[in-house]
Amino acid sequence: MKFKNISVIGLGYIGLPTAVLFASKNIKVTGLDVDDDKIDLINKGESPFEEPHLDHLIKTTVSNGMLKAYNSPKPAQAFIIAVPTPFLEDLTPDLSYVKQAVNTIAKVLKRGDLIILESTSPVGTTALVSKWLQVIRQDLKFPGENQENCDVNIAYCPERVLPGNIIKELQENDRVIGGLTPSCSDQAAILYREIIDGKIHITNAKAAELTKLAENSYRDVNIAFANELNMICEKLEINTSEVRKLANLHPRVDILNPGIGVGGHCIPVDPWFIVHSAPDESKIIQIARKINRNRTDIVYKKILKHIKAAKRKESIACLGIGYKANIGDTRESPAVEIIKKLDEDQLGELLIIDPHVKTLPKVLKNRKHLTLTSDLGQALDNSDVILKLVGHREFENIESLKFPDKLILNFC
Ligand SMILES: NC(=O)c1ccc[n+]([C@@H]2O[C@H](COP(=O)([O-])OP(=O)(O)OC[C@H]3O[C@@H](n4cnc5c(N)ncnc54)[C@H](O)[C@@H]3O)[C@@H](O)[C@H]2O)c1
Repeated sequence: MKFKNISVIGLGYIGLPTAVLFASKNIKVTGLDVDDDKIDLINKGESPFEEPHLDHLIKTTVSNGMLKAYNSPKPAQAFIIAVPTPFLEDLTPDLSYVKQAVNTIAKVLKRGDLIILESTSPVGTTALVSKWLQVIRQDLKFPGENQENCDVNIAYCPERVLPGNIIKELQENDRVIGGLTPSCSDQAAILYREIIDGKIHITNAKAAELTKLAENSYRDVNIAFANELNMICEKLEINTSEVRKLANLHPRVDILNPGIGVGGHCIPVDPWFIVHSAPDESKIIQIARKINRNRTDIVYKKILKHIKAAKRKESIACLGIGYKANIGDTRESPAVEIIKKLDEDQLGELLIIDPHVKTLPKVLKNRKHLTLTSDLGQALDNSDVILKLVGHREFENIESLKFPDKLILNFC
């Protein structure tokens, strides 16, 4: 079947680039979101967040009528769900956004439609989507185990793009598709072939769900190892960078850099979904998560020690608040956590510089001694301490500049 129109539910970092790519292939896309400000911006042809090439694609697809955003569901041949999947305070998965999206789609669903879940989800969520729909829409037959010939096809299709390079990776990365039945997978593959140049790998829904979680848990475990090695080196008074460099000369060793913690919407979240499903079998994943969660606290204590020892604390230039280099996403950002603690401990005037972030995240807003500035030179001139928290390209070589009377702390 050729898809002529689709709907994307959740126009965030994943849903919006996906929507514009389909729209750029002459597939009419209706975007659905609950955020009216975001809908207005998109319909004006503007991007609600920074991502290379996205602005141009939104402008083009909105102006030629292939993309339009709404706050209510519209009928379509396929529905792609890309809403948040956070975890609750007790570390269990929060599927309420997915459920709300499913309830919305149910209102306009018809025989022959395809539903794709792109939100990173615990194992079994795609099957759950089918069960929820079967309860709401008893007039349609939804896929279950060994149940072919259904009225609606449902598949899981996880996303593995790198923020800052999303448009390119969406098209070029290999993609895993796991249908609830083989024909669900076939339909999903036909749809994604429209935008993907990479290979499509077909499996079942549960394997596809775990594949995505395993990818991010693998990253988390490797980062935890790098952070742990850093602590071991410091205790034994050995240079971490040198050990890392020498160990990586081994042809099958690739130790990562230690960091200030793990941020974003994926790596600090997704491992908990595995832990929730298999708590007794996921010991390494749990320990890695704890190491990386504690990391920001450990780094903060180091910063505090240096600043107190230097007795300079009138003003601190904090370079970077994104959760990683060269992007403006501040979700779960360790840099934000560190700046918040500096402010709470009243360490001085805080000048925040991040060329990728236009407004401060909520948690840093309305604080008397904290200012977001775009003037890097002035912030460096006016501060006693320069604290490099994120390795944005704009901050390259800062430590090689001559600031004889300033304390420079580089945590990148
Ligand atoms: N950001 C990434 O790099 C990345 C990478 C891979 C996978 N993912 C996964 O993709 C999913 C989406 O992540 P994101 O980063 O795009 O999140 P996001 O917060 O940027 O976007 C989610 C959007 O969904 C909207 N929304 C919430 N509830 C809704 C509802 N009921 N109906 C319609 N819209 C609704 C929100 O307003 C928001 O615009 C998550 O499961 C995430 O884990 C994200």
